[in-house]
Amino acid sequence: MAILRAAHLVKRFGAITAVRDVSLTVGEGEVAGLLGPNGAGKSTTLHMLLGLITPDSGSIELFGRELARHRTEVLSRLNFAASYVDLPSVLRVHEVLDAFARLYALRRPARRVAEVIELFELGPLRKRQMMALSSGQRTRVQLAKAMLNAPRLLILDEPTANLDPDAGDRIRSLLTRLSRETGGAMLITSHNMREVERMCDRIHFLSGGRVVAAGSARELAGRYGAEDLEEVFLKVARG
Ligand SMILES: Nc1ncnc2c1ncn2[C@@H]1O[C@H](COP(=O)(O)OP(=O)(O)OP(=O)(O)O)[C@@H](O)[C@H]1O
Ligand SMILES: [Mg+2]
Repeated sequence: MAILRAAHLVKRFGAITAVRDVSLTVGEGEVAGLLGPNGAGKSTTLHMLLGLITPDSGSIELFGRELARHRTEVLSRLNFAASYVDLPSVLRVHEVLDAFARLYALRRPARRVAEVIELFELGPLRKRQMMALSSGQRTRVQLAKAMLNAPRLLILDEPTANLDPDAGDRIRSLLTRLSRETGGAMLITSHNMREVERMCDRIHFLSGGRVVAAGSARELAGRYGAEDLEEVFLKVARG
């Protein structure tokens, strides 16, 4: 069954059409990637899937239900992390996680908070204020927050953008492990082609607000006569 089915999404901001025609499907347990140049419409697409902004037209179905009609239920089964979302800077790591665990109305909030702290190796940082964390540490808190409700779909907008190669590699391994262990699906954007090649089962290429190509990294490379995804990207982005 498809976890996510979006069809013909369109979003305009005044005179700008950020998303012209985006359709995509994410299957159970699948790690899907959204690629494309700056301004292609990736974040706007994710924000529509999260119900943060409303599409001008098109449809979004999550877990077999229409987002617009079953908003609360649908949103409780997914989660989101992005480098541009700030968590309250004066709160300590464990306070942030406690607050979200309560917001999500988890059955055993304290226990789940302890689990994600362990999972993302945040033990030593528990009592630190958010403002006193490095961006890599902050990313780990963001991801821990996003795993609190054990989402069946995790949406990540450039999850490793602020990380050094070592931290990025560890986060990628952890996310891949989590998706295997929990069977949860992921939809991620990234400008790191090796990351996308390594993590994503299926890639949707956006350009000018449209999906211009979709397939596995290998299929796309074959179709464009390219060595790797980086070359595919350059060919697609340059038309
Ligand atoms: N709130 C907004 N108001 C006006 N224009 C917007 C708004 N949000 C996005 N846009 C425009 O829509 C287009 C798509 O932006 P979007 O953020 O979706 O791109 P993106 O693919 O995520 O790019 P990047 O790789 O740089 O993150 C851009 O031209 C952007 O300027
Ligand atoms: Mg973006």
